[in-house]
Amino acid sequence: MEGIYIVKNGDYVTGVRQKQSFLGLLASYEGMDIMQLEIYADKPMWIDPGSSSELMEYFYILDGSVSIIDESGEEKLLEKGDCFYVANIKKSIPAKSANGVKMLYISTKPVFNYLYSYTGDLNELRRRCEEKDQYTKNHSNRVMEYSVKICENLGLSKEITNTLVISSLFHDIGKCMIPDEILKKPTSLNREELRYIMKHPIFSRSFVEGKFGKQVAEIVEQHHERPDGSGYPYGLSGKEILPEARIIAVADSYDAMTTDRAYKKAVTPREALNELRLGEGSRYDRDAVKALAKYLKDINRV
Ligand SMILES: [Fe+2]
Ligand SMILES: [Fe+2]
Repeated sequence: MEGIYIVKNGDYVTGVRQKQSFLGLLASYEGMDIMQLEIYADKPMWIDPGSSSELMEYFYILDGSVSIIDESGEEKLLEKGDCFYVANIKKSIPAKSANGVKMLYISTKPVFNYLYSYTGDLNELRRRCEEKDQYTKNHSNRVMEYSVKICENLGLSKEITNTLVISSLFHDIGKCMIPDEILKKPTSLNREELRYIMKHPIFSRSFVEGKFGKQVAEIVEQHHERPDGSGYPYGLSGKEILPEARIIAVADSYDAMTTDRAYKKAVTPREALNELRLGEGSRYDRDAVKALAKYLKDINRV
């Protein structure tokens, strides 16, 4: 990332609202998350021990007040302008706010996706992610539709189809960690920005792993890998790439080509299919391209 990023009116807040709290992600960079945590009036909360001894979590009171019970058992009232930070705590610290509190919450390691994936509704996050950008609206639904059709035309099992439904729906969920300024940039991206965008499959993985397991996590992580090794994030090639990931890659590329994007206009289904055929066996899985072509022909789109 390079330069200055301005976020107005909480536009870039991706968050999870629950009965007792709201946790929003303001920015995320190189393993550090900057969030806003709101605890509603009279709702109990806990600050839990972190997963790593290197994790430090910092809380700055923006508005309202909060009482925390420190490790000696003493209750401390913190008000606007006060802060506290925790590292290596051995047990959960109870926090309670009589009238509600809004805090700036900074963690030195990524915690948002972890907190989100077990407290939040990933579907809601996915929808919000896509709605932020008119170009990607319904992208994951279309990628799911194409992936399932490819799967059916290849005669793959119901079990694989089900795994593909989940994986395709959430393949880009990690994009919510990328600032809008990069995601919606109408001009070409600089190297730093590209490097950052190319991390989204890794972010996607961390969102889905806790909820759907390792297999779905690996598939979403590999959806930009290419059979000839030219993909990202790891440059895997051939059989190193899971078959499900190769199917999503074809469905995803077809949808990207046939929808308008901030930086380029859509091409026709026929042109997109020709492009996929040009890359058969190198950039795209041969069988998956054939199966997609059959589906497009069946519905008279090409
Ligand atoms: Fe993607
Ligand atoms: Fe995608």
